[in-house]
Parts: sequence; C-alpha cells; structure tokens
Amino acid sequence: MRRNSLLAAGLLLCAAVALAAEPPSLKSLAPPGLRIGAAINRGQSSGGDPKAEAIVIRQFNTVTAENDLKWERVHPEPGRFDFGPADRYVDFGARNGMFVVGHVLLWHQQTPAWVFAGEGGKKLDRETLLARLRGHIATVVGRYKGRIGGWDVVNEALEEDGTWRKSPWLEAIGEDYVAKAFEFAHEADPAAELYYNDYNLWKPAKRDAAIRLVQGLKAKGLRVDALGEQAHWGIDDPPLEAIDEMLAAMRKAGFAVHVTELDMDVLPRDPDQWGADLAKKARIRAASNIYPDGLPPAMQEKLARRYADCFALFLKHGVGRVTFWGVTDATSWLHDFPIPGRVNYPLLWDKDGREKPAFDAVADVLRKRAAR
Ligand code: XIL
Repeated sequence: MRRNSLLAAGLLLCAAVALAAEPPSLKSLAPPGLRIGAAINRGQSSGGDPKAEAIVIRQFNTVTAENDLKWERVHPEPGRFDFGPADRYVDFGARNGMFVVGHVLLWHQQTPAWVFAGEGGKKLDRETLLARLRGHIATVVGRYKGRIGGWDVVNEALEEDGTWRKSPWLEAIGEDYVAKAFEFAHEADPAAELYYNDYNLWKPAKRDAAIRLVQGLKAKGLRVDALGEQAHWGIDDPPLEAIDEMLAAMRKAGFAVHVTELDMDVLPRDPDQWGADLAKKARIRAASNIYPDGLPPAMQEKLARRYADCFALFLKHGVGRVTFWGVTDATSWLHDFPIPGRVNYPLLWDKDGREKPAFDAVADVLRKRAAR
C-alpha cells in the first residue's frame, strides 16, 4: 500500500516536472475570452506540413482557412461545389478541439467571373445576384452547420475614405447587399457567429463607416457578433495611437473586436506599391527586398517590440480573438504581396519553424497579464 502511494506520488512529481519544463503555449497564456489562432493553408490542414501543424496544435485554439473556403475554391462553377479541402480543414479544427472560422462568404476578390455575369449576356441584375448569393451561402454554411463556429460574412465593403467600395456586389444589388448576406448566413446556421471583416480600420473615416455599417445591421435586427480588423500591418505603421483609438472606438460602440489576419510587413513600404504597374513593381522590388538572406538581429528586436506593443493594446481593449495570417515565415503570402518575389519575415516562427524573438515578446506580454 505504502509502496503504491509512494509510486503514485513519484509519478505525479514526474508529470509536474514535465509540465513545468514544457514552455507554455500562447493559448495557455491568453486570458479567458481571448482566442489565439492562425490561418492555415491546404497542406497544413491535410498532413503536408508536419512542422507547421505541430505548432498550430500546440499554440492555438482557433483556425481560419487561408483560402479553402473562398468562393473560387468551393464553388468554381455554377452548380459545382468542391468541398474536399474545406472538409479536411474543418475536420482538422474539430479533431484538435479548435474554434473553426469560416473565411469568407462574400468578397470582390477570389470570386469566379461567372458570379458577376448576367444571364445570357444580359447585364447582371439584382435578383439574379441575390439568388446566387443566397444559394452559395445556404450550401456552404449549411454544410458546416454546427462545426464552423463563426463566419466572415462580408469582406472589404468599404473604401479608404469610408464610402462604399464600387464592387460588382454594390453595383448589381445596391447597399443592402451586406444586410442580405448577413440575413442569408443567419438563416443557414442560426447558431454561428457572424462577422464584418475589413482592413485599415485604424483609419478614422473607414473605422467610423464600418461602425455605422454594423450598427445599421443591428438596427435591422440582424445578428453581428464582431468587427474584424485584418491587421496586415507594417513594422512602423499604423502608429500605436491609431490602433489604440480604433480599438477604443469599436468597444465604445458596443462591438466585440477581432484581429483577424495579423502579420507585420518588415520591408520598407513604398507608397506606390499597392497599385503599381509591372515596371514600377520591378523597381520597388529591387529597392525594398533588403533582407534576402535573413533578418538582422536589430530588426528581429524591432519586430518583437512591435508585436509586444500591439498585444498590450489587444489586452487593454479586451480583443476577443487574434488570428495570425499564417504560421511560420516559410509560407507567408507577404513574399508575393503586394510585390511578388521578395523575402519577408512577418510572423512569430522563422522559415524553419523556430520561435523568433517576437514569439517570446508576445508570450511575455501574455504571461505578465496572467500573473496580475
Ligand atoms: C490572401 C491569401 O493569404 C493568399 O494566399 C491569396 O493568394 C490571396 O488572399 N485579405 C483577406 C485574405 O481577407 O483572404 C487575403 O488572403 C489577404 C488579404
């Protein structure tokens, strides 16, 4: 008897030592009410990238599909759906006990041309496009009912000055296309959370327009659970004050805030890089691809400070979810956007899956908060 209890105590001690030796994960350090996750690609959700997969399983409690739920992927032709990769993504999240995010139901990008083509060569009309939208949402949201916990319903409906983006959705349907999308999504899965997602919401005019937009949806009795700022940010911009003000304004308006696509572009940003033609892009690439062989230590530190400062603000304002746009630097979309063919270092793990100083900085901010 005594020997048995000694043995049990010994085993317990070993387990405690093992736990203590295991460095804590971001999800275990995060305060209650803050989910932490990453966007994952097709390889990562189907066994093709074990290194990134291990990081995701260990560190995160929510995932977003980087591309596999977009219209062009799941619904490439009228009446033809391809759910293979999306099913594997949702299975991956469910298997690992994660909150699974659906990205995205309505966007002007990565949507096949047929969606915006009128019937029989005629101009696209409101009823036709609404019927396509409703059918798409009913099929996609319906398929994952009860398994996808929250959907980015509409992505990027606003211009930088807060006016409506001149998209085919607006042109054919009119301003209520956003309300319709939320209505259709709720119809397809009444229990799912629904989000409005956009970028540069730290710009006051755009932020205020987004707040007005979702307040308008709520006034109509529609379900909206959170406002998402994508947060494809730079190493110096937006300034911390602008992020602070954005989060304060959203919370004051009564909305939960999600940081949905976080990464930090460490390369110098040319004001012309967004809309540049090919010749200009080549010139910008030559001038800005300044770390082709690795990020210098001083920049690693700067990136770490930037991440720490941003996370301090996320905690200050009670952000409900932070999702990184990618796992390691190996597969970030920023190697090819907005300028193709550069080497970037935007995430918390390097291209070999090693934790960067930025990882320690984020973990530290979370740890200090947990110790309070
Ligand atoms: C990006 C993906 O990361 C790329 O792989 C793809 O080629 C283009 O789209 N805002 C969004 C995301 O809402 O869906 C985008 O993802 C990045 C910008």
